[in-house]
Amino acid sequence: MTAVQTTLRDYSLTGVEAAAALENGLANGRWFQADIDPKRLAELSVRTNGRAAVDMALWIALIIGSGLLAWTVRDSWWAIPAFLLYGALTGGAADARWHECGHGTAFRSGFLNDLFYFPASFMLNRQALFWRWSHFRHHTDTIIRGRDAEIVFPRPPSFTAAALLFSNVKNGPVAMLGTVKTAFGRLDENTIELVPPEDHRRLIRHARVYALIWAAAIVASLVTWTPWPVLFVGGPTLYGAWFYIFFGITQHAGLQENVLDHRYSTRTVLMNPVFRFLYLNMNYHIEHHMFPTVPYYALPQLHEEIKDQLPPPNPSTLHTYAEIIEAFRHQNVDPDWEIQNRHIPDVPGRRAQIVQVTEWAGDSGRTDLGPADLAPGDLRAVQIAGVDFVLVRTEDGDHVLADRRCTHGEADLSMGLVLGCELECPKHNGRFDLRTGDPTRKPIRQPLGVQPVTESDGRLYIT
Ligand code: FES
Repeated sequence: MTAVQTTLRDYSLTGVEAAAALENGLANGRWFQADIDPKRLAELSVRTNGRAAVDMALWIALIIGSGLLAWTVRDSWWAIPAFLLYGALTGGAADARWHECGHGTAFRSGFLNDLFYFPASFMLNRQALFWRWSHFRHHTDTIIRGRDAEIVFPRPPSFTAAALLFSNVKNGPVAMLGTVKTAFGRLDENTIELVPPEDHRRLIRHARVYALIWAAAIVASLVTWTPWPVLFVGGPTLYGAWFYIFFGITQHAGLQENVLDHRYSTRTVLMNPVFRFLYLNMNYHIEHHMFPTVPYYALPQLHEEIKDQLPPPNPSTLHTYAEIIEAFRHQNVDPDWEIQNRHIPDVPGRRAQIVQVTEWAGDSGRTDLGPADLAPGDLRAVQIAGVDFVLVRTEDGDHVLADRRCTHGEADLSMGLVLGCELECPKHNGRFDLRTGDPTRKPIRQPLGVQPVTESDGRLYIT
């Protein structure tokens, strides 16, 4: 094996690779999507409060149980495994809850998603607003150098970096220091790049809350002269992180960079039911990236729908780690080396949606949009004189003609999801109010063009 290039590539969001990504059309690009019947996708995208509530309740019960266990055995050596378990469930398993609620897909209710998103962010010491924006970018430009701030292993990867990552002895304190700096109003380069200015004040407020809670735990530990307060509050961020790293590494490590197809940059790994509960099915990671409107509990069914268009899933976590270690061994000396034996099916991907083509009526009258045959919650792509729209029927039964392209990025809203009177974008789960076009969920900030539709004699019209 000959060494090709072993200097670290530039992964900063403002460096040469960032400029190259823009120049080469890799930023906010058009991604491969597997073909799936839009109606089936809409079925799989249905969220229920009940299912997520049961899973969250079980998680909270496990945290309380492990915390009580750790407290009970605190004066013995059993405290070590008991706290490791408690840390894994709080500073580790919070990651999957944070992720799913951040997408707004765990619960149907936005309030409930936020209710879990913010505490889970604290458990992980993730500045909630920064990571929300960072994760939008991760979905826009997955594993694109200079664009994605969530690339865990810059190339060439090293086993030392992996060991440091797992131990969290470097990243954990650095992240805590970063939060304290934010609390003092000092925003770093990535925050300025990713978080829009209107969110900066809230970001700083949240960081102050984190810092105050940590300070209270430290003071309590000093006053009682025991480690228990910091081991229960704040500490799990440091000593529980290994747990989410254990799962998170399987998502992209060792796979291709700079390719607009998640089948090359992302893995699906078959895992046992316990892992799948703790990780909330994020092992179906290609499926999640391709169709982020689908909640975690429907990802196994989505996998069944599209698996013929994806590389075969890795058969186990162990197999995945063996694959990553092998990739790191090669990429350490040759950063261009790629995993050889992933079979990516040669399929065309999502077909263009059936578009109903019509013409403007002109000055005189109404434009006919065809029969009023949409069920509540359905949508259809429509083209009027070469301009793309999406015809939507809200769950209240009203019809709306909306622009087809999302105002945030490269997304086709005819693959979106109707939730009540809102339309959710299939790319980053941003939402529009269909009655006004106003954005109701970030990352969308610009309104969507919407026009009211009238129904007459079983046909739909705009005037
Ligand atoms: S493209 Fe980002 S929310 Fe639509």
